[in-house]
Amino acid sequence: MNHILELAERLAQTHDLPDDELLVLIRRRNPGASSFLKAEARALCDRIYGKEIYLRGLIEFTNFCKNDCYYCGIRKSNRRAERYRLTQEEVLACCDMGYPLGFRTFVLQGGEDPWFTDERLCKLVAAIKKRYPDCAVTLSVGERSRESYQRLFDAGADRYLLRHETATESHYKKLHPPELSLKNRLSCLQALRDIGYQTGCGFMVGSPFQTSEDLVRDLRFLKEFQPHMVGIGPYLSQRDTPFRAEPNGSGELTLFLLSVIRLLLPEVLLPATTALGTLLPRGREEGILCGANVVMPNLSPEDARGKYLLYDNKLSSGAEAAESVFLLRESLENIGYRAVAAKGDSLVS
Ligand code: 5AD
Repeated sequence: MNHILELAERLAQTHDLPDDELLVLIRRRNPGASSFLKAEARALCDRIYGKEIYLRGLIEFTNFCKNDCYYCGIRKSNRRAERYRLTQEEVLACCDMGYPLGFRTFVLQGGEDPWFTDERLCKLVAAIKKRYPDCAVTLSVGERSRESYQRLFDAGADRYLLRHETATESHYKKLHPPELSLKNRLSCLQALRDIGYQTGCGFMVGSPFQTSEDLVRDLRFLKEFQPHMVGIGPYLSQRDTPFRAEPNGSGELTLFLLSVIRLLLPEVLLPATTALGTLLPRGREEGILCGANVVMPNLSPEDARGKYLLYDNKLSSGAEAAESVFLLRESLENIGYRAVAAKGDSLVS
Protein backbone atom coordinates (compact mmCIF):
# COMPACT_ATOMS: atom_id res chain seq x y z
CA MET A 1 0.00 0.00 0.00
CA ASN A 2 0.91 3.63 -0.54
CA HIS A 3 3.46 4.46 2.17
CA ILE A 4 2.10 7.95 2.84
CA LEU A 5 -1.43 6.68 3.30
CA GLU A 6 -0.09 4.09 5.70
CA LEU A 7 1.54 6.83 7.80
CA ALA A 8 -1.72 8.77 7.75
CA GLU A 9 -3.63 5.71 8.95
CA ARG A 10 -1.20 5.15 11.79
CA LEU A 11 -1.50 8.81 12.82
CA ALA A 12 -5.29 8.49 12.87
CA GLN A 13 -5.16 5.29 14.92
CA THR A 14 -2.46 6.13 17.45
CA HIS A 15 -2.71 9.94 17.61
CA ASP A 16 1.03 10.24 17.14
CA LEU A 17 3.90 9.40 14.82
CA PRO A 18 7.66 9.55 15.32
CA ASP A 19 9.23 12.81 14.13
CA ASP A 20 10.88 11.27 11.07
CA GLU A 21 7.54 9.93 9.89
CA LEU A 22 5.74 13.22 10.54
CA LEU A 23 8.39 14.82 8.35
CA VAL A 24 7.77 12.36 5.53
CA LEU A 25 4.01 12.83 5.89
CA ILE A 26 4.31 16.61 5.58
CA ARG A 27 6.85 16.55 2.76
CA ARG A 28 5.20 13.90 0.65
CA ARG A 29 1.56 14.54 1.45
CA ASN A 30 -0.77 13.91 -1.48
CA PRO A 31 -4.47 14.52 -2.12
CA GLY A 32 -5.35 10.96 -1.07
CA ALA A 33 -3.60 11.22 2.30
CA SER A 34 -4.96 14.74 2.85
CA SER A 35 -8.55 13.75 2.26
CA PHE A 36 -8.15 10.67 4.44
CA LEU A 37 -6.76 12.80 7.30
CA LYS A 38 -9.47 15.40 6.79
CA ALA A 39 -12.23 12.78 7.13
CA GLU A 40 -10.57 11.16 10.16
CA ALA A 41 -9.98 14.50 11.88
CA ARG A 42 -13.56 15.64 11.31
CA ALA A 43 -15.01 12.32 12.49
CA LEU A 44 -12.87 12.45 15.63
CA CYS A 45 -13.95 16.01 16.38
CA ASP A 46 -17.60 15.02 15.82
CA ARG A 47 -17.23 12.19 18.34
CA ILE A 48 -15.79 14.57 20.94
CA TYR A 49 -17.54 17.90 20.35
CA GLY A 50 -20.47 16.80 18.21
CA LYS A 51 -21.78 19.14 15.53
CA GLU A 52 -21.32 22.18 17.74
CA ILE A 53 -18.99 25.01 16.81
CA TYR A 54 -17.97 27.50 19.47
CA LEU A 55 -18.08 31.22 18.83
CA ARG A 56 -15.56 33.68 20.27
CA GLY A 57 -16.04 37.41 19.96
CA LEU A 58 -12.70 38.97 19.08
CA ILE A 59 -12.19 42.46 20.47
CA GLU A 60 -9.02 44.07 19.14
CA PHE A 61 -8.72 46.66 21.87
CA THR A 62 -5.30 48.21 21.19
CA ASN A 63 -2.89 48.17 18.28
CA PHE A 64 -0.07 49.90 20.15
CA CYS A 65 2.83 47.49 20.43
CA LYS A 66 6.29 47.76 21.92
CA ASN A 67 7.58 44.86 19.86
CA ASP A 68 8.97 44.88 16.37
CA CYS A 69 8.22 41.41 14.99
CA TYR A 70 9.33 41.34 11.37
CA TYR A 71 6.08 39.82 10.06
CA CYS A 72 3.51 41.89 11.87
CA GLY A 73 1.68 44.98 10.61
CA ILE A 74 1.30 46.54 14.06
CA ARG A 75 5.03 46.33 14.88
CA LYS A 76 6.27 49.45 16.60
CA SER A 77 8.38 50.67 13.67
CA ASN A 78 5.40 50.77 11.36
CA ARG A 79 4.79 54.52 11.16
CA ARG A 80 1.87 53.93 8.83
CA ALA A 81 -0.18 52.04 11.38
CA GLU A 82 -2.85 54.35 12.79
CA ARG A 83 -2.72 53.61 16.47
CA TYR A 84 -5.82 53.34 18.62
CA ARG A 85 -6.84 52.09 22.01
CA LEU A 86 -10.42 51.35 23.05
CA THR A 87 -11.74 52.71 26.33
CA GLN A 88 -13.28 50.42 28.90
CA GLU A 89 -16.72 51.71 27.87
CA GLU A 90 -15.99 50.89 24.24
CA VAL A 91 -14.87 47.36 25.10
CA LEU A 92 -17.98 46.81 27.22
CA ALA A 93 -20.10 48.10 24.34
CA CYS A 94 -18.53 45.37 22.14
CA CYS A 95 -19.58 42.77 24.71
CA ASP A 96 -23.08 44.29 24.87
CA MET A 97 -23.31 43.87 21.15
CA GLY A 98 -21.95 40.31 21.23
CA TYR A 99 -23.95 38.83 24.07
CA PRO A 100 -27.39 38.93 22.41
CA LEU A 101 -25.80 37.55 19.24
CA GLY A 102 -24.86 34.44 21.21
CA PHE A 103 -21.24 35.15 22.16
CA ARG A 104 -20.24 33.68 25.52
CA THR A 105 -16.48 34.17 25.18
CA PHE A 106 -14.84 37.53 24.66
CA VAL A 107 -11.25 37.55 23.44
CA LEU A 108 -9.35 40.70 24.31
CA GLN A 109 -6.55 40.81 21.78
CA GLY A 110 -4.00 43.54 21.46
CA GLY A 111 -0.42 44.49 20.82
CA GLU A 112 1.95 44.59 23.78
CA ASP A 113 0.77 48.00 24.91
CA PRO A 114 2.48 49.31 28.07
CA TRP A 115 -0.44 51.69 28.69
CA PHE A 116 -2.37 48.61 29.75
CA THR A 117 -0.77 48.18 33.12
CA ASP A 118 -1.95 45.33 35.32
CA GLU A 119 -4.20 47.78 37.10
CA ARG A 120 -5.95 48.95 33.94
CA LEU A 121 -6.22 45.52 32.39
CA CYS A 122 -7.45 43.89 35.61
CA LYS A 123 -10.09 46.57 35.89
CA LEU A 124 -11.22 45.86 32.35
CA VAL A 125 -11.36 42.08 32.86
CA ALA A 126 -13.24 42.48 36.15
CA ALA A 127 -15.76 44.84 34.55
CA ILE A 128 -16.54 42.32 31.79
CA LYS A 129 -16.85 39.44 34.26
CA LYS A 130 -19.08 41.52 36.50
CA ARG A 131 -21.48 42.36 33.70
CA TYR A 132 -21.31 38.91 32.10
CA PRO A 133 -20.55 36.33 34.80
CA ASP A 134 -21.65 33.52 32.50
CA CYS A 135 -19.01 34.41 29.90
CA ALA A 136 -15.35 33.48 29.57
CA VAL A 137 -12.72 36.16 29.08
CA THR A 138 -9.73 35.22 27.00
CA LEU A 139 -6.66 37.44 26.94
CA SER A 140 -4.23 37.66 24.04
CA VAL A 141 -1.85 40.42 25.00
CA GLY A 142 1.54 38.81 24.65
CA GLU A 143 4.41 38.37 27.06
CA ARG A 144 4.02 39.68 30.61
CA SER A 145 5.51 38.71 33.95
CA ARG A 146 4.25 35.74 35.88
CA GLU A 147 2.96 38.11 38.56
CA SER A 148 1.01 40.00 35.95
CA TYR A 149 -0.52 36.80 34.57
CA GLN A 150 -1.48 35.84 38.13
CA ARG A 151 -3.14 39.21 38.79
CA LEU A 152 -5.11 39.01 35.57
CA PHE A 153 -6.21 35.49 36.43
CA ASP A 154 -7.28 36.64 39.88
CA ALA A 155 -9.22 39.47 38.23
CA GLY A 156 -11.24 36.85 36.38
CA ALA A 157 -9.47 36.04 33.10
CA ASP A 158 -10.14 32.41 32.17
CA ARG A 159 -8.02 31.75 29.12
CA TYR A 160 -4.89 33.04 27.42
CA LEU A 161 -3.70 32.84 23.84
CA LEU A 162 0.00 33.22 23.21
CA ARG A 163 1.21 31.70 20.00
CA HIS A 164 4.69 30.24 20.33
CA GLU A 165 5.17 31.26 16.64
CA THR A 166 7.87 28.60 16.05
CA ALA A 167 9.38 25.99 18.33
CA THR A 168 12.78 26.26 16.62
CA GLU A 169 15.20 28.64 18.32
CA SER A 170 17.07 29.64 15.14
CA HIS A 171 13.81 30.20 13.27
CA TYR A 172 12.41 32.27 16.14
CA LYS A 173 15.43 34.57 15.80
CA LYS A 174 14.73 35.09 12.11
CA LEU A 175 11.19 36.23 12.81
CA HIS A 176 11.84 38.45 15.81
CA PRO A 177 14.26 41.15 16.95
CA PRO A 178 16.98 40.07 19.41
CA GLU A 179 15.15 41.25 22.52
CA LEU A 180 12.54 38.53 22.03
CA SER A 181 13.40 34.91 22.70
CA LEU A 182 11.75 31.53 22.31
CA LYS A 183 12.93 30.72 25.82
CA ASN A 184 10.94 33.57 27.32
CA ARG A 185 7.92 32.78 25.16
CA LEU A 186 7.91 29.19 26.41
CA SER A 187 8.33 30.19 30.02
CA CYS A 188 5.35 32.53 29.64
CA LEU A 189 3.30 29.63 28.28
CA GLN A 190 4.37 27.41 31.15
CA ALA A 191 3.49 30.10 33.70
CA LEU A 192 0.06 30.58 32.15
CA ARG A 193 -0.64 26.88 32.34
CA ASP A 194 0.63 26.60 35.91
CA ILE A 195 -1.53 29.50 37.04
CA GLY A 196 -4.60 27.71 35.75
CA TYR A 197 -5.47 29.44 32.50
CA GLN A 198 -6.84 27.40 29.64
CA THR A 199 -3.83 28.08 27.48
CA GLY A 200 -3.46 28.36 23.74
CA CYS A 201 -0.32 28.36 21.62
CA GLY A 202 0.19 28.14 17.88
CA PHE A 203 2.13 29.25 14.86
CA MET A 204 1.94 30.68 11.37
CA VAL A 205 2.10 28.25 8.47
CA GLY A 206 4.59 29.28 5.81
CA SER A 207 6.23 32.04 7.81
CA PRO A 208 9.47 33.18 6.15
CA PHE A 209 12.36 30.67 6.47
CA GLN A 210 10.09 27.94 7.88
CA THR A 211 11.15 24.42 6.94
CA SER A 212 9.26 21.13 7.22
CA GLU A 213 11.61 20.21 10.07
CA ASP A 214 10.47 23.36 11.87
CA LEU A 215 6.85 22.27 11.44
CA VAL A 216 7.66 18.86 12.91
CA ARG A 217 9.17 20.60 15.95
CA ASP A 218 6.01 22.72 16.22
CA LEU A 219 3.86 19.59 16.18
CA ARG A 220 6.09 17.86 18.71
CA PHE A 221 5.93 20.89 20.96
CA LEU A 222 2.12 20.85 20.77
CA LYS A 223 2.00 17.16 21.59
CA GLU A 224 4.27 17.64 24.59
CA PHE A 225 2.82 20.89 25.93
CA GLN A 226 -0.78 19.68 25.55
CA PRO A 227 -2.35 23.12 25.21
CA HIS A 228 -6.09 23.58 25.62
CA MET A 229 -6.23 25.55 22.37
CA VAL A 230 -4.12 25.80 19.23
CA GLY A 231 -4.27 28.70 16.77
CA ILE A 232 -2.71 28.26 13.36
CA GLY A 233 -3.15 30.28 10.20
CA PRO A 234 -1.17 30.98 7.05
CA TYR A 235 1.50 33.69 7.16
CA LEU A 236 0.19 36.60 5.09
CA SER A 237 2.50 39.38 4.02
CA GLN A 238 1.97 42.95 5.12
CA ARG A 239 3.22 45.79 2.94
CA ASP A 240 4.77 47.87 5.73
CA THR A 241 6.94 45.15 7.29
CA PRO A 242 10.48 43.97 6.51
CA PHE A 243 8.91 40.74 5.21
CA ARG A 244 6.72 42.57 2.67
CA ALA A 245 8.21 40.64 -0.26
CA GLU A 246 7.87 37.21 1.35
CA PRO A 247 5.20 34.96 -0.19
CA ASN A 248 2.04 34.04 1.68
CA GLY A 249 1.81 30.68 3.38
CA SER A 250 -0.17 27.87 1.79
CA GLY A 251 -3.85 27.39 2.52
CA GLU A 252 -3.63 23.75 1.54
CA LEU A 253 -0.80 23.11 4.02
CA THR A 254 -2.69 24.99 6.75
CA LEU A 255 -5.75 22.77 6.22
CA PHE A 256 -3.56 19.66 6.20
CA LEU A 257 -1.95 20.71 9.49
CA LEU A 258 -5.35 21.44 11.07
CA SER A 259 -6.26 17.80 10.43
CA VAL A 260 -2.92 16.57 11.76
CA ILE A 261 -3.28 18.70 14.91
CA ARG A 262 -6.83 17.44 15.55
CA LEU A 263 -5.51 13.87 15.32
CA LEU A 264 -2.50 14.56 17.55
CA LEU A 265 -4.58 16.39 20.18
CA PRO A 266 -8.14 15.02 19.94
CA GLU A 267 -9.71 17.30 22.56
CA VAL A 268 -8.01 20.55 21.64
CA LEU A 269 -10.03 23.68 20.80
CA LEU A 270 -9.01 24.51 17.26
CA PRO A 271 -10.15 27.68 15.49
CA ALA A 272 -10.58 28.16 11.78
CA THR A 273 -8.73 31.48 11.86
CA THR A 274 -9.32 34.82 10.18
CA ALA A 275 -6.03 34.45 8.29
CA LEU A 276 -7.27 31.19 6.76
CA GLY A 277 -10.56 32.87 5.83
CA THR A 278 -8.62 35.75 4.30
CA LEU A 279 -6.45 33.49 2.15
CA LEU A 280 -9.10 31.02 0.93
CA PRO A 281 -12.60 31.98 -0.21
CA ARG A 282 -14.18 29.25 1.92
CA GLY A 283 -11.33 29.01 4.40
CA ARG A 284 -13.46 29.03 7.53
CA GLU A 285 -15.75 26.27 6.29
CA GLU A 286 -12.83 24.24 4.96
CA GLY A 287 -11.09 24.64 8.32
CA ILE A 288 -14.13 23.23 10.13
CA LEU A 289 -14.28 20.33 7.69
CA CYS A 290 -10.61 19.58 8.41
CA GLY A 291 -11.22 19.32 12.16
CA ALA A 292 -11.50 22.86 13.55
CA ASN A 293 -14.33 23.55 16.02
CA VAL A 294 -14.05 27.25 16.87
CA VAL A 295 -14.66 30.47 14.93
CA MET A 296 -13.71 33.92 16.12
CA PRO A 297 -15.68 36.68 14.41
CA ASN A 298 -14.65 40.28 14.90
CA LEU A 299 -16.57 42.27 17.53
CA SER A 300 -14.33 45.35 17.40
CA PRO A 301 -15.88 48.71 16.47
CA GLU A 302 -15.90 49.38 12.73
CA ASP A 303 -13.09 51.97 12.67
CA ALA A 304 -10.81 49.85 14.88
CA ARG A 305 -11.14 46.93 12.47
CA GLY A 306 -9.64 48.93 9.65
CA LYS A 307 -6.59 49.68 11.79
CA TYR A 308 -5.80 46.30 13.32
CA LEU A 309 -3.95 45.23 10.22
CA LEU A 310 -1.61 42.38 11.10
CA TYR A 311 -1.46 41.52 7.39
CA ASP A 312 -2.82 42.83 4.07
CA ASN A 313 -6.49 42.36 3.10
CA LYS A 314 -7.45 41.14 6.56
CA LEU A 315 -11.12 40.13 6.56
CA SER A 316 -13.41 41.89 8.99
CA SER A 317 -16.70 42.09 7.18
CA GLY A 318 -19.29 39.59 5.96
CA ALA A 319 -19.45 36.45 8.06
CA GLU A 320 -16.17 37.50 9.69
CA ALA A 321 -18.05 40.34 11.44
CA ALA A 322 -19.88 39.52 14.64
CA GLU A 323 -22.92 41.59 13.68
CA SER A 324 -23.31 39.32 10.65
CA VAL A 325 -23.20 36.19 12.78
CA PHE A 326 -26.38 35.10 11.00
CA LEU A 327 -24.32 34.68 7.80
CA LEU A 328 -21.84 32.60 9.71
CA ARG A 329 -24.58 30.47 11.28
CA GLU A 330 -26.00 29.92 7.85
CA SER A 331 -22.72 28.91 6.27
CA LEU A 332 -22.02 26.51 9.14
CA GLU A 333 -25.48 25.00 8.83
CA ASN A 334 -24.86 24.48 5.14
CA ILE A 335 -21.98 22.16 6.01
CA GLY A 336 -23.89 20.41 8.80
CA TYR A 337 -22.69 22.36 11.86
CA ARG A 338 -24.29 24.63 14.46
CA ALA A 339 -22.77 27.70 16.12
CA VAL A 340 -23.74 27.51 19.78
CA ALA A 341 -24.12 30.12 22.53
CA ALA A 342 -21.87 28.30 24.99
CA LYS A 343 -18.70 29.19 26.83
CA GLY A 344 -17.09 26.22 25.17
CA ASP A 345 -14.49 25.23 27.71
CA SER A 346 -11.70 22.93 26.63
CA LEU A 347 -12.02 19.26 27.48
CA VAL A 348 -8.22 19.03 27.90
CA SER A 349 -7.48 18.64 31.61
N1 5AD B 1 0.34 36.86 8.89
C1 5AD B 1 -0.35 35.94 9.59
N2 5AD B 1 -0.46 35.97 10.92
C2 5AD B 1 0.13 36.98 11.57
N3 5AD B 1 0.21 37.25 12.87
C3 5AD B 1 0.92 38.39 13.03
N4 5AD B 1 1.31 38.86 11.85
C4 5AD B 1 0.84 37.99 10.92
C5 5AD B 1 0.94 37.90 9.51
N5 5AD B 1 1.62 38.81 8.81
C6 5AD B 1 -0.29 36.34 13.89
C7 5AD B 1 0.80 35.95 14.87
C8 5AD B 1 0.28 36.47 16.19
C9 5AD B 1 -1.20 36.55 15.96
C10 5AD B 1 -1.94 37.50 16.85
O1 5AD B 1 -1.32 36.95 14.62
O2 5AD B 1 0.94 34.53 14.91
O3 5AD B 1 0.58 35.65 17.28
